[in-house]
Amino acid sequence: MHSIVIFASGRGSNARAIIDHFKTNGNARVALIVSNKADAGVIAVAEEERIPFLVIGKKTFGETLLVEQLMEYKPSLLVLAGFLWKVPDSLIKTFPEKIINIHPALLPLYGGKGMYGHHVHNAVLNARDAESGITIHYVNEVYDSGNIILQARCPVNSGDTADSLAERIHKLEHFYYPRVIEYLLGQ
Ligand code: GRF
Repeated sequence: MHSIVIFASGRGSNARAIIDHFKTNGNARVALIVSNKADAGVIAVAEEERIPFLVIGKKTFGETLLVEQLMEYKPSLLVLAGFLWKVPDSLIKTFPEKIINIHPALLPLYGGKGMYGHHVHNAVLNARDAESGITIHYVNEVYDSGNIILQARCPVNSGDTADSLAERIHKLEHFYYPRVIEYLLGQ
């Protein structure tokens, strides 16, 4: 049985989709949820699902203690799902090719520091792009620049707001992220 560790800072809808997927599919389970915010929605998801969780501070992130705590779960994959902090190099070196992220746009467009949530969707709308989408990629030392595993596209409709576009993007995320994880674990 593979262990997945999810890192998230927000409401946790992707975490929820991944947890639900592996209740009935594949040879994996979400073993731990890590957040930098004690009041994030994803913590409520962890509590509801009785999944252990860890709230981390910036200083401890990447330090030996956290690495040791993560190692206890023998994770096959560290999955970032709306996690807003940059992953420290020490963690990337400890888990090479085992950390993945999802970005709500078609990288390399609209990536980098500060590009998250509505900042991304507003930039897409301001550019009058005809389409947007999601990018699932490996995490390396530079924000949003690791090797791309999968991209999926959706139209940007006239009259779209950041909210309506975010909703369309979330549907893609909830479908593809669990399946990509299952694929990576099956390799
Ligand atoms: C997602 O849109 C993801 O692409 C981005 O942050 C958002 C997290 O949403 N990195 P949720 O917390 O999973 O609902």
